[in-house]
Amino acid sequence: MPADVRLRALRGAPPLPFDAGLDVFRAPDRQEAAIARLARDPAAFVWVVEQGDATIGYLSVQPPDPVERWGALRRAPGGDAVYEIGAIEVAPRARGAGHGSALLDTAFGGGRFDDALVLAVLYAWHYDLARRGLGALQVRRALQRFYARVGFEARTTRDPDITEDPANALLVRVGSRAPAGLVAAFEALRTQPAGGP
Ligand SMILES: CC(C)(COP(=O)(O)OP(=O)(O)OC[C@H]1O[C@@H](n2cnc3c(N)ncnc32)[C@H](O)[C@@H]1OP(=O)(O)O)[C@@H](O)C(=O)NCCC(=O)NCCS
Repeated sequence: MPADVRLRALRGAPPLPFDAGLDVFRAPDRQEAAIARLARDPAAFVWVVEQGDATIGYLSVQPPDPVERWGALRRAPGGDAVYEIGAIEVAPRARGAGHGSALLDTAFGGGRFDDALVLAVLYAWHYDLARRGLGALQVRRALQRFYARVGFEARTTRDPDITEDPANALLVRVGSRAPAGLVAAFEALRTQPAGGP
């Protein structure tokens, strides 16, 4: 990591201005505002990579939205231990330098989520294919390797939002002390067809 690059947790305070290339999920100013909101949310975790006076990368981990399919897990036994990767993104000019891996290592390396179940839902429309020069399936495989370094594994699912594109994927990190009831609820939900049992 270059000497002027810093990785830190963001708690409460707003992030430094977003690099103009952080546009995969939303326009950079809107994503900056979304990350600022998450940094104020006591249930969420945000880490940022900064260079000079700009944010060049970030990772958010948060409870899934209760109105979404996976948000139903919050009502399961142990449901306060379910999280999802909200987003991870590094500005194109800074990719391939280890910042993304460092964000994952910082978040998951210290045992913080070992009593939790953390989802990562990969949607092909997030893959930034134009800049990568790879096909969507190749990017999915690369992302699976990227997340596997901190213990995420791919799982099949019947969630139609995921199955509609073979380049999408459901990944999960089941912490060594994740509540058994939560793990069971996840297994039931991932195999449940759309619209409920
Ligand atoms: C995925 C991403 C955060 C990785 O950040 P990074 O700083 O380049 O990460 P690293 O330098 O630590 O390298 C990451 C590894 O993942 C690979 N990789 C996986 N998916 C990738 C992707 N979509 N784009 C670029 N690299 C990717 C890299 O090739 C590299 O593997 P290697 O070390 O075996 O060559 C970054 O590429 C990015 O912002 N991509 C667009 C947004 C995105 O795809 N987010 C995830 C959606 S779920």
